[in-house]
Amino acid sequence: MQEEMKQTIEHKIIASNFKTNHTRKSTGDFIENINSFLDEEDIKNEVYIFPTATSLDNFDTVKNLEVGVQNAYFVQNGSFTGEIGTQQLDEFEIKTILIGHSERRHILGETQKEISLKYNFYKSLGYKIIYCIGEPLEVKEAGLTETLGYIWEQFDGIDLNYENLILAYEPVWAIGTGVVAKIEDIAKIHRKIKKKINKPLLYGGSVKVDNIAEVLSVPNVDGTLIGTASWDIDNFKKMIKITKEK
Ligand code: PGA
Repeated sequence: MQEEMKQTIEHKIIASNFKTNHTRKSTGDFIENINSFLDEEDIKNEVYIFPTATSLDNFDTVKNLEVGVQNAYFVQNGSFTGEIGTQQLDEFEIKTILIGHSERRHILGETQKEISLKYNFYKSLGYKIIYCIGEPLEVKEAGLTETLGYIWEQFDGIDLNYENLILAYEPVWAIGTGVVAKIEDIAKIHRKIKKKINKPLLYGGSVKVDNIAEVLSVPNVDGTLIGTASWDIDNFKKMIKITKEK
């Protein structure tokens, strides 16, 4: 069983989550620029960019650069004010989605039930899913057993054998706060998750130019999901280069 599930990562993965940043114009320039950079530097790592829904387009990108959505509803179309569905994603051939991000769970109030419906819908359509998990500060402070219990509950209704799944462990208290988890904490949680689930596992939470090399050298860290520090193109390029060298 373990053997069947085993997935080996040839190159570390790097993903940028734009959240509510950049305009349509600056997103287009950013993606075009990164695209040429990957080509010129012969970078083979998988690179993901998640722009705002208003900035989606038919980007002509190199094979290893994928543009995805930060969110979409689990429908093709219909009456879901403020949401987009696959009718809008298909227009731009988007086939990658971020699901379960902590800002959607904790700020927008998405429940595990809704998240699993979304997951199963996009799984049935073969989307690449970056699925985020992570505990808030009070859970971390309660201890390792509580933290793992909290994380396992975020897998309710989630098919962990799905072939197009990438996981991202992002402790809520480390997102956008400048507080990166301690290396030993990342190592501990990643080892526990990997023992149960053999899927590519990214780390996210205040990753930046100064700490990405250290984060990438932690065992069982297959790449990073970066918010704040990735919105500046020069910083993102520096982090891609460091990722290439790892
Ligand atoms: P951050 O965000 O890098 O700004 O902490 C990470 C994320 O939310 O994916």
